[in-house]
Amino acid sequence: MSRVLVVGGGGREHAIVWGLQRSPSAPDVFAAPGNAGIAQTALCMPVDPHDPSAVAQLADDLAVDLVVVAADRQLVNGVADAVRARGRLAFGPNADGARLEGSKTWMKELLAGANVPTARYGSFDDEAPALGFLDSLAPPYVVKTDGLAEGKGVLVTETLADARDAVRSYLSGQAFGHAGRRLVIEEGMTGPELSLLVVCNGDPDDARPLAPAQDFKRIGDGDTGPNTGGMGAYSPVPVAPQAVVEDVMARAVLPTLQALRSRGIDYRGVLYAQMMLTSDGPKVVEYNVRFGDPEAQCVIPRFAGDLAELVFRAASGERGLDSKFVDDACVTIALACEGYPVSPRTGDVIRGLEDAAVNSVTVFHAGTRREGGDFVTSGGRVLYVSALGSTIESARARAYDAAEQIEWPGRYYRRDIAAGVG
Ligand code: AMP
Ligand code: GLY
Repeated sequence: MSRVLVVGGGGREHAIVWGLQRSPSAPDVFAAPGNAGIAQTALCMPVDPHDPSAVAQLADDLAVDLVVVAADRQLVNGVADAVRARGRLAFGPNADGARLEGSKTWMKELLAGANVPTARYGSFDDEAPALGFLDSLAPPYVVKTDGLAEGKGVLVTETLADARDAVRSYLSGQAFGHAGRRLVIEEGMTGPELSLLVVCNGDPDDARPLAPAQDFKRIGDGDTGPNTGGMGAYSPVPVAPQAVVEDVMARAVLPTLQALRSRGIDYRGVLYAQMMLTSDGPKVVEYNVRFGDPEAQCVIPRFAGDLAELVFRAASGERGLDSKFVDDACVTIALACEGYPVSPRTGDVIRGLEDAAVNSVTVFHAGTRREGGDFVTSGGRVLYVSALGSTIESARARAYDAAEQIEWPGRYYRRDIAAGVG
């Protein structure tokens, strides 16, 4: 039996822990720092997940065989590097590969050099050329921080004045601090979006896509209001049949992995291609270097094989990655606190968790803590309800039935996740 440490403490990490524990190879799973949901089945250690040497030390202390580094900032900070430097296996790229997510300018340059289809762009440190480039574009205008900004650094607007204001507030450091002092301006693309998570073992030809998913980033029904950390997801995606997945692999993922390798980067972990299916074919919106959140909560319940074995093989660079998925669809709904994402109200007792988790429904915790026998809300996004069903519609009905069972004052969720999809 092997031992695995999962680094992080959100809904995604709960889904990863759950998927590892369900694996036929049955590893012992630990989390750092984990959360109250994860603590129901795995030992959680109070270690800073962003501190490379603290995580590497913990991996030594626990004598784990593998560390799954789950979040972007951890990877950009070099947590996987620190684990590997001690001779242990890590799932997740080193800081060199994590630049794909950590610097949009670097990512766009790599894509341009590899002829990967993506939006036309400019990268700027100064206001005058940035504003000049904006003026040359047609709406919608897209302004992004170069660096990590907790998923909030992207503005898409029809209004030139708003885009110009964003350029000023990003570059001045007011809006996102250092992350925005360099920015990327892109031409606007249109079309349905697709999240394709690809497991990589360092060899581009072995890259193995997981089932496609689609996520919902905005807080409000009909994709209105501010962007959030993710309000829901569904899988599979009817607009992305196997032929589209193969097209994305051939046109985007493979050349990207080859470009990384030609720079000496041994990429092991998940490469998450966020695609837009435009009338000119699939184009990269951006790359993430980890499982998506909440895509993990939606894709892992559909995984039919041994997730622990897949992750082990990828981390050790073994050939023959296998990923099979059940035909059942999965729909995932985020339950958030009143006031999320601006000023979430926390500290409320959650009721109905046991009644919800029945009948192909799994509840993943993101922002809860334990108070006596109760779970209490402790973060903006509190829980993810994932339900399987033979169709997207039946999975959706189950997920919403379960969401309805779970209650606390001000509990909020979107009503239109996967509505009308199939
Ligand atoms: P991100 O935080 O980079 O995932 O971006 C948030 C959302 O902004 C994406 O899911 C897209 O819907 C949108 N977006 C980003 N780049 C573009 C673009 N070039 N054209 C249109 N929409 C975009
Ligand atoms: N679902 C978007 C992300 O994980 O970045």
